[in-house]
Amino acid sequence: MKALCWHGKGDIRCDSVPDPQIEDDRDVIIKMSACAICGSDLHLMDGYIPFMEKGDILGHEFMGEVVEVGRGNTKLKVGDRVVVPFTICCGECSQCLKGNWSVCERSNRKAENATKAFGYPTAGLFGYSHLTGAYAGGQAEYVRVPYADVSPIIIPNGISDEQALFLGDIFPTGWMAAANCEIEPTDIVAIWGCGPVGQFCIKSAFMQGAARVIAIDNVPERLALAAAAGAVIINFDEIDGTIPDHIKDMTAGHGADKCIDAVGAESHATASFDAIIDKVKAATLLGTDRPHVLRTAIMACRPGGIVSVPGVYGGFLDKIPFGAAMNKGLTIRTGQTHVNRYSLDLLRRIEEGEIDPSFIITHRATLDQGPELYETFRDKKDNCIKVVLTA
Ligand SMILES: NC(=O)c1ccc[n+]([C@@H]2O[C@H](COP(=O)([O-])OP(=O)(O)OC[C@H]3O[C@@H](n4cnc5c(N)ncnc54)[C@H](O)[C@@H]3O)[C@@H](O)[C@H]2O)c1
Ligand SMILES: [Zn+2]
Ligand SMILES: [Zn+2]
Repeated sequence: MKALCWHGKGDIRCDSVPDPQIEDDRDVIIKMSACAICGSDLHLMDGYIPFMEKGDILGHEFMGEVVEVGRGNTKLKVGDRVVVPFTICCGECSQCLKGNWSVCERSNRKAENATKAFGYPTAGLFGYSHLTGAYAGGQAEYVRVPYADVSPIIIPNGISDEQALFLGDIFPTGWMAAANCEIEPTDIVAIWGCGPVGQFCIKSAFMQGAARVIAIDNVPERLALAAAAGAVIINFDEIDGTIPDHIKDMTAGHGADKCIDAVGAESHATASFDAIIDKVKAATLLGTDRPHVLRTAIMACRPGGIVSVPGVYGGFLDKIPFGAAMNKGLTIRTGQTHVNRYSLDLLRRIEEGEIDPSFIITHRATLDQGPELYETFRDKKDNCIKVVLTA
């Protein structure tokens, strides 16, 4: 079958690889009908996440039709149309039972790598390195789904692939980032990053009742989409002074009650001293992440506020203003998304027409064109915001 494979930094190829097989009674095999490229895939492409191996199949946003079912799986049957959440969950360990799905204690087959990096293992993830289980990803014609009696979401007729696909990652990710802010009706929520995740943060913040949303990026078409959703926008290339000061000016001195970092490890900033140092350190392997946005969000947040971090980080972050976080009494919440917590509620919201997640898609192509589309998405060429691939 065809699959998009990682061959090194910046080197993604559409390879011919063996079809997956059922390995466990609870598995299913799906025939992929739609998959997407995520900002998290760019961290792999750009070499920010360790433990990748040549030939690893990428992709963790995917859906399709069940074509084979393991003998012990009583939830799914051949012909079901499912979206597969990116976190792999056993459904039985103490974290799954608590609803902390993205830190399932059993699904990471390479638990020793995660334990070395994080002190404990975290859940297995599709197509996301040997740190998170070395599972083949979903940017492929067929995908093996382990523990498939737990997380896959059965999609009813009447909802298209493009409307359903993002239930597996970026919609619940934006939703959880907003939920982690415990939004109150008077809240001003500042959101860094207007990529796909940032866009779902904006929609979710409004759906959860925010008074105002301020969205920050420097890509015009992404800022325009944020403005269309009702956010007040800041192009960080076009302002004088710092972002926290600018937010105060826009809000009569009030500032942001809640701050969301929807950028993660690869933030850029044109003329900021800390960002230049991060870039040099990352390029010379002296540092792992470029946490300029996290620093800014902590500084911008009002005392007593919440900083919510859906943006992915990989390692040890430098020069975080923890004194500001401590003395202002901030709450910091983060995590890979506990997708299953939100699946049925968000599916219902799509069915009832409260949101149509396909608003984000700008590019449609096939797996063969995947390597080129990775570059288009990374470099934000051709007004690209979100790529959906079919087989
Ligand atoms: N927590 C989770 O479970 C989860 C799930 C999906 C994605 N993510 C993460 O969310 C982040 C965003 O994903 P995406 O798909 O939207 O990626 P993306 O790369 O398309 O978007 C990132 C956006 O941030 C902007 N940006 C860069 N530097 C900035 C700065 N200094 N200030 C403001 N904006 C800045 C970029 O211009 C871009 O539009 C990534 O880190 C991704 O790994 C996390
Ligand atoms: Zn993702
Ligand atoms: Zn579990």
